[in-house]
Amino acid sequence: TTATDDTLRTPIVAVLGHVDHGKTSLLDKIRGSAVTAGESGAITQHIGATAVPLDVISEIAGDLVDPTDFDLPGLLFIDTPGHHSFSTLRSRGGALADIAILVVDVNDGFQPQTLEAIDILKRTQTPFIVAANKIDTVPGWNPNEGQPVQQTMDAQSDRVQSDLNEKLYEIIGELSDNGFSADMYWRVQNFQANIGVVPVSAETSEGIPDLLTVMMGLSQRYMKEEMEIDTSGPGVGTVLEVKDTQGFGTTLDAIIYDGTIRNDDTIVVGGLQGPIVTDVRALLRPRPLEEIRTEQEFEQVEQVAAADGVKIAAPELGDAMAGAPIRVIRNRDRKEVIAEVEEELAEIEVTTQEEGVVIKADTLGSLEALSSTLEEEEIPVMRAEVGAVAPRDVRVAETAGEPTNQAILAFSVEVLDDARDLAEQEDVELFEDDVIYQLVESYDDHVTAIEE
Ligand code: GTP
Ligand code: MG
Repeated sequence: TTATDDTLRTPIVAVLGHVDHGKTSLLDKIRGSAVTAGESGAITQHIGATAVPLDVISEIAGDLVDPTDFDLPGLLFIDTPGHHSFSTLRSRGGALADIAILVVDVNDGFQPQTLEAIDILKRTQTPFIVAANKIDTVPGWNPNEGQPVQQTMDAQSDRVQSDLNEKLYEIIGELSDNGFSADMYWRVQNFQANIGVVPVSAETSEGIPDLLTVMMGLSQRYMKEEMEIDTSGPGVGTVLEVKDTQGFGTTLDAIIYDGTIRNDDTIVVGGLQGPIVTDVRALLRPRPLEEIRTEQEFEQVEQVAAADGVKIAAPELGDAMAGAPIRVIRNRDRKEVIAEVEEELAEIEVTTQEEGVVIKADTLGSLEALSSTLEEEEIPVMRAEVGAVAPRDVRVAETAGEPTNQAILAFSVEVLDDARDLAEQEDVELFEDDVIYQLVESYDDHVTAIEE
C-alpha cells in the first residue's frame, strides 16, 4: 500500500470586519463560551483559531442542517481583530482562508476596515458571505433567541421589518458599489456569482443557524475538491503570531493547512534573516470549542493534522515572522524544503529602491499589502521590514534622500521609545496607523505640505 491517507480537511473560515462590529461575539455564540468577557478592553488582542465540529454546527442549526448531507468535518474559524489586517492570513501566494464571513454592523454599515477587508477578499478571490450583525438593536425588536432569521423577521412588527430592511438594503448597495452583486441569502441561487447577506444577532443568536448552514453548504458545494488532502504528508502552515508562552519561551500560533505536524518533526519557518530550521519541542493545542488565546493549560499532543490551529514550541523562534510559512521536513530533502520556504518568502514581494521611505508592519502579509498600496501611488520604499520601529530604522530614514523620503510608515507596530526620541531629534517624520489607506493618506498630506 502507498503511505497516503486522503481525507477531507476542515475548511478555514476567516471572520473579518470593522472594529466592534461583532466578530468575536459571533464566534463566542457559536462556541458557547464568553471570550469577549475576558478580553482586555473588549478588544481582541490576538488572532485565534476555533474548530467547530459538524455535530455542534448541526445542533445549533437545528432543522436547517441535516448532518448526513455533509462529509466535511466542520469549520475552522479564524477571528481577526479589527485593527489587524486580514492580509496576514496568507498561504502560498494566496489567502489562507478558504472562505470568509464579513461582519457588518447594521447600524454602522461599511467602515474603513470593512472596505479594507473587501479589497483583500477581492484581490485574493476568497468567496465570502456578509453577516449583517446586531439586528436586535433595531428599535422595537422582539428577540426570538436562537431562531432562524426569516422566522424571527416575520414575527416583527411592520415598522421594525421595514427599518431593518432599509439597513440591509444599504449594505447590499455598498456591496454593489464595491463591485459585488448581493442579495439576502435566501434569494441567492449561485453563491459564486452573488454575495449572500445573512442578518444575525450575536446577542440573541438569531440568524446564527442560518449563518452556519450557509457556510457549511457553501464549503460542501464549492470547496469539497480543494479540501481533499493527504493528512499523512509533511505539514504545511502559516504563522499567525509569534509570542512568549510561559514555560515554553517563544512559540508560534500557527494554522496547519496541509498534511500533519508531529512533536518530533524538524521544521523550517520564515524568519527575519531567512529560513529558520528547528526541532519541534512540543505541540500545544486547545481542545475543540476552546480558544487558542484563552487556553491557559495547553494540552500537549503528538500530532496535529490539517486544518487546525496549533501552538508550536521550538528553540530559536525569536526571529520568526507572523505571516511566514512553516514546512515540516520529515522524510523530505532538507535543502529542498529550505528552498521552498525561501521561495515563498521571496514571493511576498516588496520592491525597494535606493531612495525612499521606511515601512514597518506587524506581519509579512500586511507589509506586502502596505507596499503594494505605496507602489500604486508611486511612493518609493527604501526599506521594508516586519517588526517594531527601532532606532536603526530612524538612522536609515535619515539617509533616505529627498526630505519627503525621511519618513517611517508604521502599520500596526509598536514604536520603541528611543526610536521616537531619535526621530524627533533627527527630523524623521513618523506615521502610525492600523488602517493602511489612512496611513498612506496622512503621509500624502505631509508630502503636500512640504511641497507647498
Ligand atoms: P474587535 O475584535 O475589536 O475588532 O471587535 P469585534 O468585531 O470582535 O466586536 P466584539 O464581538 O468585541 O463586539 C463589540 C461590541 O458589540 C461588544 O460590546 C458586543 O457585546 C457588542 N455586540 C456584538 N454583537 C452584537 C449584537 O448582535 N447585538 C448587540 N446588541 N450587541 C452586539
Ligand atoms: Mg474581536
